[in-house]
This record gives sequence, C-alpha cells and structure tokens, in this order.
Amino acid sequence: MSDLTPQVRRRRTFAIISHPDAGKTTLTEKLLLFSGAIQIAGSVKARKASRHATSDWMEIEKQRGISVASSVMQMEYRDCVINLLDTPGHQDFSEDTYRVLTAVDAALMVIDAANGVEPQTRRLLQVCRARNTPILTFVNKMDREVQEPLALMDEIERELNMAVVPFTWPVGMGKTFGGVMDLRERRMRVFSPGEDRNRDDDEIIDGLDNPVYPQRFGADYAHAREGIELVQEAAPAFDEAEFLSGRQTPMFFGSAINNFGVREVLDALVDLAPPPGPRGSLQREVKPDEPKFTGVVFKIQANMDPAHRDRIAFVRVASGHFERGMRLKVVRSGKELRPNTVVSFLSQRRELLDEAFAGDIIGIPNHGVLQLGDTLTEGEQLQFTGLPFFAPEMFRSVEVADPLRTKQLKAGLQQLGEEGAIQVFRPVMGSVLLLGAVGQLQFEVVAHRLEHEYGVKARVMPSRFQVARWVTCDEADGGAKELQRFIDGNAHRVAHDAVNAPTVLVEYAPELRAIEANWPKIKFHALREHA
Ligand code: G4P
Repeated sequence: MSDLTPQVRRRRTFAIISHPDAGKTTLTEKLLLFSGAIQIAGSVKARKASRHATSDWMEIEKQRGISVASSVMQMEYRDCVINLLDTPGHQDFSEDTYRVLTAVDAALMVIDAANGVEPQTRRLLQVCRARNTPILTFVNKMDREVQEPLALMDEIERELNMAVVPFTWPVGMGKTFGGVMDLRERRMRVFSPGEDRNRDDDEIIDGLDNPVYPQRFGADYAHAREGIELVQEAAPAFDEAEFLSGRQTPMFFGSAINNFGVREVLDALVDLAPPPGPRGSLQREVKPDEPKFTGVVFKIQANMDPAHRDRIAFVRVASGHFERGMRLKVVRSGKELRPNTVVSFLSQRRELLDEAFAGDIIGIPNHGVLQLGDTLTEGEQLQFTGLPFFAPEMFRSVEVADPLRTKQLKAGLQQLGEEGAIQVFRPVMGSVLLLGAVGQLQFEVVAHRLEHEYGVKARVMPSRFQVARWVTCDEADGGAKELQRFIDGNAHRVAHDAVNAPTVLVEYAPELRAIEANWPKIKFHALREHA
C-alpha cells in the first residue's frame, strides 16, 4: 500500500475487440454517453463514417488526424477512471493492434449475435489469450433475429476455448425481444427500443419466476427459463481467478444501438475488470503503485497534422505519478525529456494533461526522440518487455525515383519505421533499403505517405526474400563476438532494422534451417519484444 494505491485501484484500462460491424463504434459511443464523457450521441459515429473507408487507403491520410484524437478515451464512472483504447480495424494493421493490446488490462469482446464468432475476433482474442488478458463478452444486436443464446455460448466456448459464464440471459429476440434476466440480481430489465435514453428508466421486474412473466412474455419466457435452467446446471460458477487469467468470460446480452445492456457492461468493467498490475522488465518487476514514474511507448503516430510534422508517442504509465513538466529519461538513448505539452485524449478532444497514474495513457509530442518500445523513467535503467515486433512475412526493396531525394527517402523511412508503420532493414551489403510488412496494404500506405509527407516518389519493387529472423547470441555462447562472426559470415543476407537489431533474411524456409544448423550458438527469433 502506498500513497498511489487508491489512484491505481480506481483505474481500468481496456480495449474493445470485435469483427468489423459487430457494433464496436456504437458501443464505444454509448459507454461514453453513459459515463457522461460525451453529451451528444453521434460524435463517435462521425469518425466511423470515415473508418468505413479503411479499405480505401487514400483516405487513411485524411483520417489520421481524426482517429488519433479518439484513439484513447478516458471516462469517469462511479469511482473509477476508465481508459478505453481503440484498436485499428483493418487486419493489415494487426501489428499495431497487437501492440495496443499490450497496453490494456482487460478486453471487451463484442459479438454480433447473428454472426457469432467471426475471423477478426478470433485473431484478436488469440493475442489476448497469449497474454492472459481477462475478457468480458457483450453479445450485441439482440433486437434482431439472431442465434439462440445457447448456440452462441457453445460457439464461443468451442472456438475461443474459454468457459462462458452468462451474467444475463435474453428473453426473446428480434421483434419480440423482451429484455434480459439478470441471473445474479435475480430480476428482469425490460427492453424498450430507442436511442435517446441514457438515464436508468428501464422497467425492472423482480425475481426470475415472477408470475407476470408468462403473461407478458409467453413462450419467449418459457424458452428463456429452460435456457437458464440448463445454464445454471451446466455452466461453471463465476471464478475470479479463472476470469483474471483469461480462461473464463462473463457474458452479457444487449443492444448497443438501443442503449440496452450498456450500463451492465460499464458496471462489469468497474466491478470485475482488474486495475493495473505489475509489469515485467528485463531488470525487475515494476509495481503500479511504486512512487517513481515509469512508462512504455506502445504506439507512435506521426505527422497527424502534416503542417506541424509532429509525432505523438503513446505512453502507458506503468508506475508512479506523472506530472507535466517533470524530467524523464529515455532509457535506450539516455536522453532527457521534459514534456511540457503532454496530451491526453478525452473523447474527441485533445487536451493538455497535468497528471497521470498507472494505467493511464499519455501522449508526448516529439520529433523522433521516442521510438516504439522505449521505456521512460525518472532515471532508473529499466527496459520493459512484452511489446511485440513480428518478423515480417513480405518484403520489398525500395528505391527513390530521383537520386537527389535519397536523403528524404531515408529520413522518411526511418520515421515510418520508428512509428511501426513498416519495418525498414538496412542490408549490411549494398545500399538498397528493404521494407518488411505483415500485410500488403502496409506497402501501399508507406509509398503514399512517402510521397505526400516527405515529397519522395519511391519505387517499391519485389524482393527475393521471404523469411526474416532476428539474431542474437547469449554471453555464454560467445555474445557480441560470435554474433559479429555470424554477421560477417552472412553479410549478403544480414540487415539491421530500425533499432539496429541484426536480422537474417532468406528466400526459403529450408535455407533458414540450414543456417540454424550451421550456427548452433546463434539464436533466431520470429518475435522481438523490446527495443
Ligand atoms: P463496428 O464499429 O464494430 O464496425 O460497428 P458499428 O458500431 O458501426 O455498427 C455496425 C452496424 O450495426 C451499424 O449499422 C450499427 O448501427 C448497427 N448496430 C450496432 N448496434 C446495434 C444493435 O444493437 N442492433 C442493431 N439492430 N444494429 C446495431 P449500419 O447500418 O452499418 O450503420 P448506420 O447507418 O446505422 O450508422
């Protein structure tokens, strides 16, 4: 227990994971509305209008300014400060999404009750599972003709390998959706359609067996009752430890567009989702209520305002008390930083932030001092781990059309690389830069941004490489010396990435296996976890 413990305990930091169109935007807006962070419905939707065009990458440019302002939303609800982090929707940006998910303590999974578990949800959930992130489940669109709740439960359990514990249970669906039974409070919240309510004026009927139910809801009630009985016999009881380790998910039913079930989700975030916990670093475990500030950069967004060329580093506070103007050390470079204009992202506005605690996200404008994965401290030598960089699966070489613009190309790629938009490799031999990505769209975005932000027309060409592995060597195996011997011996296929980490690039997987066999002291990594 420290002076900071109460501040830490009242924080909840989460992200919504869902397949496009399941209702993430609608639910986000309703969460903001119910917590009082925004007064007018429709503002998040305005942003969504542009989001629909994510497949049209030309639009990305225009949207960046809008999407960053709303990429972190903070709201106060009951005694809690809730930070909601937005995850980019397009699957080609999955790397970015993975990194955002390292900054949250819980995730809210939104499922379209008609479609059930969809591909993007499955992918995102795998990331959460890998990190044991607790998951709350909201089954949306009950006002439509949807799947049977038991079938949905079964699908989630099977496909996502989690035990589901229903906290509410729907009575009817679509045109005859009557509301939800709260299985813990043993009462019914009656559904009434409408977008405008944000007060608690839902009709409540006490009991799970109240005699008015059969009269009012007829066969739907009888059917729901059967489902509830089955669930109460078969589903496991809610177990906090199982939930906190991501093996059990509480499930809620509702209809975001009708503001129905939203309050329950907010309450569940406060009551069930965990406050910030300790975080791992190379040196030690860092507790959230330690007095000294520490934080990690998990996202960088560059040139949001092309006129100002600013970059904002998104920092998740891991411990301590952040105050505007305090001196911070960038551990990787040893540079000092004194951020005076730190931004927080409340709802649609970007506003100045005075203080922050573990779990909060702060935005530090900078000109390249901060990179993805950087650790910030008050002076301690510390490097947080856990921010993933994936070995790219596609490669292109890149050349500038006008050789006089080579410098601009390098500067542009350096920045885009540090931002994580693409991975940039400098081969040990030769001068042609290599780009690595996990999705084709990334190359298109980079070419577009090079032209519009850095004035460089780049020629992006096929590359023979198909596989990359970061290489390291433990001290016991010869350390830096052995690594250098490897680099010298493989100079034609080794390159350095944005943080100077050596990487071996090959054309075929069997080639990689041969190299691994020839260099037993070298370690080959498909994932790099820190700068
Ligand atoms: P996303 O961010 O996950 O992509 O989804 P979004 O909230 O934009 O919702 C996708 C569509 O589903 C929207 O309709 C939205 O209005 C609708 N929707 C969200 N929640 C509910 C619900 O509880 N019930 C029903 N019936 N529909 C819901 P759209 O037609 O694509 O957009 P719009 O024209 O309504 O804005």
